[in-house]
Amino acid sequence: MDKQDKFIKALRNLAYPVCIVSNAEEGESNAITVSSMTSLSIDPASLLVCINKSANIHKTLKVDNFVYVNLLSSSQEEISTICSSSDLDVSRFDNDFWSYDENLIPFLEDSQAIIKCKIEKIVDYATHSILILSIFDVRLNSENPDPLLYCNGSYSKL
Ligand SMILES: Cc1cc2nc3c(=O)[nH]c(=O)nc-3n(C[C@H](O)[C@H](O)[C@H](O)COP(=O)(O)O)c2cc1C
Repeated sequence: MDKQDKFIKALRNLAYPVCIVSNAEEGESNAITVSSMTSLSIDPASLLVCINKSANIHKTLKVDNFVYVNLLSSSQEEISTICSSSDLDVSRFDNDFWSYDENLIPFLEDSQAIIKCKIEKIVDYATHSILILSIFDVRLNSENPDPLLYCNGSYSKL
């Protein structure tokens, strides 16, 4: 195995919590499944997420705009699959999973937590942009952890 293959294998053998980042821009809803979400700092409360520049949502991401980071629970594999499929025949929003806030930004009610964030910075790195997000509001739906996980190409739970 060369260095690149060993790097990919090392990362595939980790277990990642799965999130969906969702927003609305110019009347259009957008969503993408991500595993790159991680906490950045507690004070100020902040997160970061890495988004591939080739993803449809990328062009809609702008500083000062809001996104939801939906921290998925183990029952949400189906919407995670929908939001990571490039099959254009599958509409990400033509289903009952979504709710909409007062500004018509979509979020996933059944997530174990729903974090409304403001985009503070977008840092460019090669194929990806790193979003630095400040926390505007947090909704906790569950006191107990039951995250949807992704490891070695498959979904699992704790
Ligand atoms: C579990 C999982 C985690 C993913 N994590 C990321 C991620 O952190 N960043 C990213 O840009 N794409 C990630 N992807 C890939 C995107 O979800 C996928 O390419 C999606 O189709 C892109 O959206 P688009 O089809 O609208 O361009 C992930 C996919 C899966 C299944």
